[in-house]
Amino acid sequence: MASDVKLTVCADPAALAETAAHLIVDAATEAVRERGRFMLCLAGGETPRATYARLALPAFSERMRWDRTWVFFGVLSRVPIPPAQIFRMCAEHADGDGAAAAYAAALAEAFGTRRGELPRFDVVLLGLGVDGHTASLFPGSPVLREVFRTVAAVHVAAAQIPQRLTLTFPVLNAAARVVFLVTGPEKAKIVRTVLSEPARLPAALARPTDGELVWLTDRAAAALHPVGEAQ
Ligand code: 6PG
Repeated sequence: MASDVKLTVCADPAALAETAAHLIVDAATEAVRERGRFMLCLAGGETPRATYARLALPAFSERMRWDRTWVFFGVLSRVPIPPAQIFRMCAEHADGDGAAAAYAAALAEAFGTRRGELPRFDVVLLGLGVDGHTASLFPGSPVLREVFRTVAAVHVAAAQIPQRLTLTFPVLNAAARVVFLVTGPEKAKIVRTVLSEPARLPAALARPTDGELVWLTDRAAAALHPVGEAQ
């Protein structure tokens, strides 16, 4: 396993959601203290849902400065984030490239970045597909080699939702902290592949250049990985 990966294996999905919610609240507290705001990129898919539900519970929600939190990609429900600070990706737009350019402009405005500068998220949450995809960065996709655009429209014929928007690797790898949330026995093979072999799978390319790479898995997803012992 690459030395820069901080792997935490939780006993089960509930324990992972708890650990992830604590990580997000701690990162938010630090970001607001140091920079006045917390820039969070959500992950799609099923796995993070339990974490989002945890964040809405008083034990976590009352510790979050939702008024100083900006959320990208998706929507967090049942938490008091000012609507102007929620940036949902409108992948359903017929003009995918237009929607990608619009989202890239919204990102630049929210982060105050100029042309050629990359937004630096405090936390980017990512999931892992059984084929090694993450975000909507799929194996073999030309967008894996994207170096300029921050957001791209992708068409994934085999996917349930073929028309998608995705953040690109330059943005993911500019983050202060990239956090993978991965659970379930069906992910054990791909977790071993991505973590132990320098596979050129998309998820293996998510490595912050100046930030932390955290993998939170449950015991089932880490079952085939050499160091898969629960914390
Ligand atoms: C997306 C997700 C996607 C997801 C994986 C894993 O945009 O749909 O970001 O990359 O994380 O497909 O999904 P599950 O958590 O449902 O297994």
